[in-house]
Amino acid sequence: MAHLRDCKAWQDAGLLLSTTSNEACKMYDAALTQYVTWKNDNSLGGLEGTFSKLQAADPNFLMGHVIANGLVLIGTGSSPRLDRKLDGAIKKMVALSQSQPLTEREKLHVSALELFANGQLPKACDTWDQILQNHPTDLLALKFAHDTYFYLGHQTQMRDSIARVYPYWTPDIPLSSYLKGMYSFGLMETNFFDRAEKLAYEALAINQTDAWSVHTIAHVNEMKADLKSGLSFMKQTENNWKDSDMLACHNYWHWALYFIEKGDYEAALTIYDTHIAPRCQFSGTMLDVVDNCSMLYRLQLEGLNVGDRWKAVNQLTKKHAKDHILVFNDAHILMSSLGAQDHKTTDELLATLHEVTQAPDEDHELNLVPKLGLPLLKAFVEFDNGNYDKAVELLYPIRYQIVEIGGSNAQRDIFAQLLIHAALKCKSKANQKLARCLLLERDELRPNSPLTERLLRKTTALHALG
Ligand SMILES: [Fe+2]
Repeated sequence: MAHLRDCKAWQDAGLLLSTTSNEACKMYDAALTQYVTWKNDNSLGGLEGTFSKLQAADPNFLMGHVIANGLVLIGTGSSPRLDRKLDGAIKKMVALSQSQPLTEREKLHVSALELFANGQLPKACDTWDQILQNHPTDLLALKFAHDTYFYLGHQTQMRDSIARVYPYWTPDIPLSSYLKGMYSFGLMETNFFDRAEKLAYEALAINQTDAWSVHTIAHVNEMKADLKSGLSFMKQTENNWKDSDMLACHNYWHWALYFIEKGDYEAALTIYDTHIAPRCQFSGTMLDVVDNCSMLYRLQLEGLNVGDRWKAVNQLTKKHAKDHILVFNDAHILMSSLGAQDHKTTDELLATLHEVTQAPDEDHELNLVPKLGLPLLKAFVEFDNGNYDKAVELLYPIRYQIVEIGGSNAQRDIFAQLLIHAALKCKSKANQKLARCLLLERDELRPNSPLTERLLRKTTALHALG
């Protein structure tokens, strides 16, 4: 990796790192670069190898601990409540921060991670934004905030936290083109599709391997149900983003979504079997795991038999059934245990969710459980049991609040689809009418969607029968 910044380079950039080891500074830069580009650098042994080198260069380098712990936390695959190793690492980082002189910025980084580890996600974001007021080019703070706003469903904040620092990012700053991709994602999630697309293309003109900018364009095409552009763009750019191993599975998921839209389920399944499933089995990361669950569940909603594919996914998800880090993750883990008919895991997930919710303290996600998490999860269970009226009863009242569980508009569409399918399957006329209303609304906002048209035809058939 070329031009990694040493102690002086970081200091000159106004982002002093409290270590005398140039190697530690360079490995911090290498880790940050891999995080922002979504790509493990094999020449360094990936993030894992980078962190070993960083640790060896200066075991007490605080920002090294911050980035290593932060990446585990932000991955949402380990809960400090259950994972002793992670809990110990955070405690060690806090102790280290108290035993050496640090800059104000570094101290705030530690506080932000402590808040995140404690489930106080909005306060963690406030802390990163506080850092950015004085240090608008602190990419670690920016990216942690970006990802956490995403988990919170705070779409406007995700856009604006980049907007307010964007002018400071002159082209000479390393990784500056990636800011365009991050900003464009926030613009896209707040429905500024044209501006989002323009910025993402600007980023790609500078660096065509920017997988996050590719991803924004994938979303724009998804939101517009523009299958033709979506399919050709993914095909044309595949070689540029497929080696961004931390995001490739997700970009393939987007590609497969266009095939589901089109009704070409075999093509979607082929992408699933060739790229989505193997990458997930290899990485086991939560992003890949939720994509696997979401893809199989969507195909099932479309009426496809996905065979025993759930079994392999469930092997991965059941290990996370007690984590309860994000309601969004819980919903996907549940799809998998239901899909695999693993009743034990389904029961365990719901029972432990009840348990942890008894003492939510300041954990943001756990506080969402009574009003959002439980009705959402129960709706999946009722749907699975064929109790479609009950599923509608649970889902319909919360549909405008579901954004609060985070994820992207495209990812959360699965909940909108579940509600429509449940309403369509109801015996009651009222709910069948509701299905038609929901579909008409969907068609207005996202015209020319073949998926919507297929479902609308079902409501017409129901009307003809009734
Ligand atoms: Fe996405």
